[in-house]
Amino acid sequence: MFKHLHMTLAVISISLFTLRFIWTLAHSAKLQAKWVKITPHIVDTFLLAIGVIMAVQYAINPLEQLWLGEKILAVFAYIFTGYYTLKLARNKTMQIIGYLGAMGWIMLIVRLAMTREPLFSNK
Ligand code: HEM
Repeated sequence: MFKHLHMTLAVISISLFTLRFIWTLAHSAKLQAKWVKITPHIVDTFLLAIGVIMAVQYAINPLEQLWLGEKILAVFAYIFTGYYTLKLARNKTMQIIGYLGAMGWIMLIVRLAMTREPLFSNK
């Protein structure tokens, strides 16, 4: 149950980020809509909270099971790259580079979640 909710929220989060990226490139006024400013924060908060709840529930220690440790680091990197893309990047080139960077982290996050194989092993 939790896992499906977590995955659904992940899809919504990535979709909203992509939509906001496209609207940023297009200088769209839609970015100012209240729901566009609020919804991503609510979705992301639940996505991360449910991840933490599942990790606690299944007793997965991120320092023991490195796939989760690496996933959490990658989530931080995704959040900062996303912030860079939507807020800090000053022109289209920087925004596109930021978006590609964020998608790279997403690919790593999804791969780590699905395979549970860490990049670096402590075994
Ligand atoms: C951008 C953020 C995130 C994305 C896109 C994401 C994506 C996913 C996906 C796709 C799965 C399902 C993998 C599968 O079994 O096929 C998953 C599972 C899981 N995620 Fe996340 N996740 C994110 C953040 C987090 C965070 C922050 C945590 C914990 C601190 C977390 C903890 C977990 C755990 C423990 C599972 C395994 C659940 C199970 O197998 O029953 N996730 N995640």
